[in-house]
Amino acid sequence: MAAYNIVDHEYDVVVVGAGGAGLRATFGMVQQGFKTACITKVFPTRSHTVAAQGGVAASLGNIGEDNWVWHMYDTVKGSDWLGDQDAIEYMCREAAPAIRELEHYGVPFSRTPEGKIYQRPFGGHMRNFGEAPVQRACAAADRTGHAILHTLYQQSLKHKAEFFIEYFGIDLMMDESGCRGVVALDMATGTIHRFKAQMTVIATGGYGRAYFSCTSAHTCTGDGNAMAARAGLPLQDMEFVQFHPTGVYGAGVLITEGSRGEGGYLTNSNGERFMERYAPTAKDLASRDVVSRSMTLEIREGRGVGPEKDHIFLHLEHLGPEVLHQRLPGITESAKVFAGVDATKAPIPVLPTVHYNMGGIPTNYMAEVIRPLPGQPDATVPGLMAIGEAASVSVHGANRLGANSLLDIVVFGRAAALRCRDLIKKGAPHRPLGKDASALALSRLDRILNANGSQTTAMIRKNMQRTMQNDAAVFRASKTLKEGMDKMAQIAGTLADLKLSDRSLVFNTDLIEALELENLMACALATIVGAEARHESRGGHAHEDYPNRDDENWMKHTLAWVDDKWQVKLDYRPVHAYTLTNDVEYIKPKARVY
Ligand code: FUM
Repeated sequence: MAAYNIVDHEYDVVVVGAGGAGLRATFGMVQQGFKTACITKVFPTRSHTVAAQGGVAASLGNIGEDNWVWHMYDTVKGSDWLGDQDAIEYMCREAAPAIRELEHYGVPFSRTPEGKIYQRPFGGHMRNFGEAPVQRACAAADRTGHAILHTLYQQSLKHKAEFFIEYFGIDLMMDESGCRGVVALDMATGTIHRFKAQMTVIATGGYGRAYFSCTSAHTCTGDGNAMAARAGLPLQDMEFVQFHPTGVYGAGVLITEGSRGEGGYLTNSNGERFMERYAPTAKDLASRDVVSRSMTLEIREGRGVGPEKDHIFLHLEHLGPEVLHQRLPGITESAKVFAGVDATKAPIPVLPTVHYNMGGIPTNYMAEVIRPLPGQPDATVPGLMAIGEAASVSVHGANRLGANSLLDIVVFGRAAALRCRDLIKKGAPHRPLGKDASALALSRLDRILNANGSQTTAMIRKNMQRTMQNDAAVFRASKTLKEGMDKMAQIAGTLADLKLSDRSLVFNTDLIEALELENLMACALATIVGAEARHESRGGHAHEDYPNRDDENWMKHTLAWVDDKWQVKLDYRPVHAYTLTNDVEYIKPKARVY
């Protein structure tokens, strides 16, 4: 192995990732006086949170009555009862204070005429236990993620967080005591950095790029999930992948659900508002799994639009230019750029597109990573936390409600900082690292940097993305999942034949993309193997051979371990069938009525 130039650092906390979750945690840590480093592979304000559009859910009740118990009920129902209700209670209760905090930190929310935070309806958010849609998504026009991300970065800087920008996290440093920090590559100089920390917080986002068509940025490559997997930790509920109903046809770019919240609607080739048939109460604002499946069925049954009858129309033209300009300026521009459509005059062609990973690194509601031990399904890993889309806390269960992701990142980013008060001590001395602390990271780096086979990263990545798109899609079936699993095993095997053409360490994008591809591969395998094994339909997992939800046998979280030979081993852990406090009762499973 080559000799690498290594620089050591010591921090109380190291946060990996600078999206909304990472920045909220970083900011919370420095606010409490912890010496905190945030390492990020992209400039913080380019993190994928910047693309979140429609809103962040909180029962502020600014436009009509609302309360957190209704929000909790909707979230449990939306999760198709796979969500952990203690965590859901925590998130929905903490939503209003978390949003008020954001407002005070400077997030420029849109306003009602009286000056309150503007709230719009979003799919699955209802008043009075499913009675009628409620306006719960707090919005900054259709650039809510952008507004939150910039504010959190500014606050982190103001509070003197230390940023390591364009540093790529390679692997965790683990020993028998737990996690000791992370090894990262400074992409500009090629120097290796070992960040020793009392607490390492993974906030690296999702892995949408395992699929061919997704709303996720190219940077969403499951880096933290794969680091956890290589450290021998399980990933949870990875089979639950959310398709957003309205990605621009052909481009995959997001058209916010907030557009339907403002009154937009979907039609098929007969001009019919078909959601009225599938979800008579919620209609176009049913939860995303329901709308995506309904659209797919319309297309399958020959009622798609366009020459190939392979997509659906989203109508916003009746809203008028003023509403579009004021409330939906970003997507009006996206429609023009990516579909060539003037949304004030014509419908936007849309198609369900991969948008969110419900699965991730299992944690409790205090952000601590879970590694089950015999008889202890909720045992935690000392020194390690995960938050945001990288984590499975599990507030979203089998399907996430829109606007609950921006909420998840701020609530659990904050929870991580609060929990650190109990777990670690400011400035506590670090024990020396074992001599093998960075061996996993360096041997991986060295192996990939010197890969001299015959297949490029782009070739292998495309094979993976196409297979996942075709065989682990909106609807799944035993036959295609089995075929997909076999193909994915074969494609993962081709990583042994990887070829890199750039062997330098300085801004080597060939190297970074190969490291990312390995990360995606671990996530994709856990997804398809978990999906093949789950013989029921629940939330985002619609299995054609098992069309019903089966609470007796499948009300449990999947755990998937991916080893260094790309073999996936599955096990299960119980869903938390209890609430956090006695203020609310456990919400018993029932059939979903839309
Ligand atoms: O449709 C949207 O604006 C997306 C929001 C979300 O995924 O929460």
